[in-house]
Amino acid sequence: MTVIKINAITVPAGSGDELAHRFAARAGAVDGNPGFEGFELLKPTDDREQWLVVTRWKDEESFQSWLSSPSFAEGHRSAAERAGDEATKPVSSHSELWSYEIAGGSAG
Ligand code: HEM
Repeated sequence: MTVIKINAITVPAGSGDELAHRFAARAGAVDGNPGFEGFELLKPTDDREQWLVVTRWKDEESFQSWLSSPSFAEGHRSAAERAGDEATKPVSSHSELWSYEIAGGSAG
């Protein structure tokens, strides 16, 4: 059963464009991983500061495998490397992982 993993990233107003730019530069980093079904980067259209990375996986195991894989490390490496560098530090001030499963819905 598909599982939904959402990384909710708090981005101070004004830094969103930079976040979107960084995602665009790394959008393919997760592609092709076993069980990966897709993701969207959602930008707030109200005054909230939480951007959502909504990812879908075939099952919990697929997500956990990606989390501990070189692919995840590589996709996030530059952010970690840049930590401490004032000019290019992560744009997020906070992030939290939300875990969901589909409980209902419709398409079309
Ligand atoms: C639910 C799965 C995910 C988790 C748990 C996760 C984890 C994190 C965390 C903790 C941060 C904030 C720390 C930081 O800025 O370095 C972050 C930022 C980021 N993540 Fe992820 N992430 C996930 C999915 C993804 C995906 C699918 C991509 C794209 C392939 C991605 C690319 C990025 C980028 C570009 C940033 C911004 C880093 C920056 O500010 O320079 N993440 N992620």
